[in-house]
Amino acid sequence: MRPLRIALTKGRLESSTVKLMERAGMDCTALHDKGRRLILPVGDSLEAVLAKAGDVITYLEHGVCDLGVVGKDVIMERGGSFFEILDLGFGRCRFALAAPEGTDFYRGYQGKTIATKYPHVARRFFQGKDMDVRVIKIEGSVELAPLLGLADGIVDLVETGATLRENGLAIVEPVAEVSARLIVNAPSLKLRKGEIEKLAARWETCLKPAQ
Ligand code: PRP
Repeated sequence: MRPLRIALTKGRLESSTVKLMERAGMDCTALHDKGRRLILPVGDSLEAVLAKAGDVITYLEHGVCDLGVVGKDVIMERGGSFFEILDLGFGRCRFALAAPEGTDFYRGYQGKTIATKYPHVARRFFQGKDMDVRVIKIEGSVELAPLLGLADGIVDLVETGATLRENGLAIVEPVAEVSARLIVNAPSLKLRKGEIEKLAARWETCLKPAQ
């Protein structure tokens, strides 16, 4: 049988996952010395695939990866059919609605415009308030949109709050807490239940307590 295959979100979540796997006693030598390789062994029983966040879900849904590590932000935006089996606790930040400091976002009756990299999350948030908003998708540095007069507010990830502060924006309301999750596709969970449950249980004992 091939090793279990886990898709890791490249970058910060990848490094935190490597640290977690090392605490769990797994051999991550290849991941430390990967060069440009994208599929790397982790000991004998696991293979890591390095991918962009959204692609982690795509590989999982098509059944070519059994497991994945991805942010809850991507899960909330993309959705998909897989199981979320563990909150890994790292990659912690939050979705928030923010607007120019000193403005009252909810004031007035005219329709509001929201800029965001996460249109689905933003629409759902305002649907929950029965509020009809216009949502404009932006690819990055969403903070620019209200500064340029394109939007009344943004729905975006906030970690330290520095980007908002330094651009004269402030949180109006939190939307959702976000952290990295271990996800698994349904067929793998059925066919390789024992191995997957063992890995998840081992990881769980090695998670750092929430800070
Ligand atoms: C994210 C997010 C905010 C910033 C928040 O952007 O979209 O812009 O980080 O972090 P802070 O609260 O610690 O300042 P990212 O760095 O991913 O860049 P992007 O917007 O260009 O995608």
